[in-house]
Amino acid sequence: MTEEIPLLGGDVTEGVVRVGETVRRPLGDHSPLVHTVLRHLEVVGFDGAPRLLGIDEQGREILTFVDGEVAGRPWPEWVADEERACSVARLARRLDDVMLPLGLPDGAEPVDTQGPGPVPTFVGHRDFTPENTVFRDGQAVAVIDFDLAGPVSRVQEVSNLLLWWGAWMPVPDREPVMQEVDAADRGRAVVRAYGLDATETAQVVPVARYLAERSWRRMRDRARRDGGGWARMWDEGVGDKIRRRQAWLAENAEDLADALRS
Ligand SMILES: Nc1ncnc2c1ncn2[C@@H]1O[C@H](COP(=O)(O)OP(=O)(O)OP(=O)(O)O)[C@@H](O)[C@H]1O
Ligand SMILES: [Mg+2]
Repeated sequence: MTEEIPLLGGDVTEGVVRVGETVRRPLGDHSPLVHTVLRHLEVVGFDGAPRLLGIDEQGREILTFVDGEVAGRPWPEWVADEERACSVARLARRLDDVMLPLGLPDGAEPVDTQGPGPVPTFVGHRDFTPENTVFRDGQAVAVIDFDLAGPVSRVQEVSNLLLWWGAWMPVPDREPVMQEVDAADRGRAVVRAYGLDATETAQVVPVARYLAERSWRRMRDRARRDGGGWARMWDEGVGDKIRRRQAWLAENAEDLADALRS
């Protein structure tokens, strides 16, 4: 039998392993939607995501292993590189462009119509962390780990990008390599690279603030309901970190919005 090599990176999923040129991941409630998404991406020929090859004899999903560079912890210096960040934004844009025609298939959670900005109309990735992005030659070439995929608008997807690649959080809460990044400048670069129009761009800050509030509630609820990695993250203070980010977004709302407009 081929050796199973544990793959570490994320906070939640245990038991992710590499077997030869494949990755095996445990199934969960989210898996039917994830599989719908991955099959759609294969049908349309999108090259920036793993392919779903099936389910193995242990009931795990089998995905293609995507070769390249993925950030571990602590994040390497290159996560702070502007051109890398912009390449992630372009990859997200390409992904969203091909996801749009699929709309909201069965299994997507009910659309949240609260909050500012356009109502979600398609399934986005929603978790563009450095640990979930594969690079080759300094460019983002694929996004993995679709476990959090769900209804989004473009503005919401960009808001997720800004969290990880725009350093949109208080300096003390950032990973060391992100401490020197100018969040307003980097935010503008990421939004431009994704290519939001002027109306959407004006919604980015309010949407980021709304999603922070929603994510505080969702993380609390998942910690209570699902335990495991969610409870551990909550106990380690992820809720307080989100609260600090909300305060930072409120304080810097005008500067961030000015930079996006300029
Ligand atoms: N298809 C793949 N191709 C290449 N590398 C992969 C692939 N799937 C996973 N990896 C590597 O394994 C790590 C962990 O995988 P993954 O992101 O799927 O699970 P996780 O991060 O543990 O889960 P979660 O993000 O839900 O907590 C990734 O950061 C990446 O380095
Ligand atoms: Mg992950």
